[in-house]
Amino acid sequence: MNESIISSLNAAIEGKSEAESLAVLADLFPGEVVFSTSLGYEDQVISDLILKNNLNISIFTLDTGRLFAETYMTLQKTNNRYDTKIKVYYPQTAAAEQLVSTKGPLSFYESVENRKECCFIRKVEPLNRALKGAKIWVTGIRAEQSGNRHDMPQLEWDEAHQLVKFHPILKWRFEEVKQYVKSQGIPYNPLHDRGFVSIGCAPCTRAIQEGEDFRAGRWWWEDESKKECGLHAK
Ligand code: ADX
Ligand code: SF4
Repeated sequence: MNESIISSLNAAIEGKSEAESLAVLADLFPGEVVFSTSLGYEDQVISDLILKNNLNISIFTLDTGRLFAETYMTLQKTNNRYDTKIKVYYPQTAAAEQLVSTKGPLSFYESVENRKECCFIRKVEPLNRALKGAKIWVTGIRAEQSGNRHDMPQLEWDEAHQLVKFHPILKWRFEEVKQYVKSQGIPYNPLHDRGFVSIGCAPCTRAIQEGEDFRAGRWWWEDESKKECGLHAK
């Protein structure tokens, strides 16, 4: 059943550009396509495609409460440029208060378990609310970003959320993303100019050196195999 949905959607977007594919999906599922943006380079490309083409896809971001100041600036600039207001989801107050009051503000450095607990409260639970009622979830994931993402299909069934995920720029190289953002004059997170490639929460993201893996600056104190926060867990 789900396989047949994926293959018919693959057929519907075959040979189409990223913007055309997004438009096809938005028309097939009116009001049921959502895009999650972290306001990083990749996501800025997709927001541009959606907003400049006036596609019926709602855009949201998860404000974990621990983002960089630069990320909020990018959100504001994006809202200004497209005359829009990207929807923002927050963690549940009681859960965030309980976490920080009982474990302190930096519990995530102490163990993978604590880190996943924080990611659950600040990202995963709000994501679940943001995806309620959606049939298609668009992301800015790229194959090049990590081993886990290398073999991902562009359209896939997400069992956990019971919807289809679509990664329109899955095959884009980093240079193409950067080039698109710069050539279109799209606002971007200024941290990208300071060696930050994949940008998440401030205490859990650092700049990388040339030649390092794209996600080497995320949860850098953990094992490579553990470095997913649960947003895209299988
Ligand atoms: S993560 O799983 O490590 O946090 P990553 O930063 O690589 O994800 O981003 C992959 C995709 O997840 C983004 O293109 C975006 O669709 C989504 N995403 C990540 N962080 C957020 C966020 N804070 N708000 C909304 N979507 C996000
Ligand atoms: Fe918490 Fe760090 Fe996960 Fe952000 S990335 S939710 S601060 S553990």
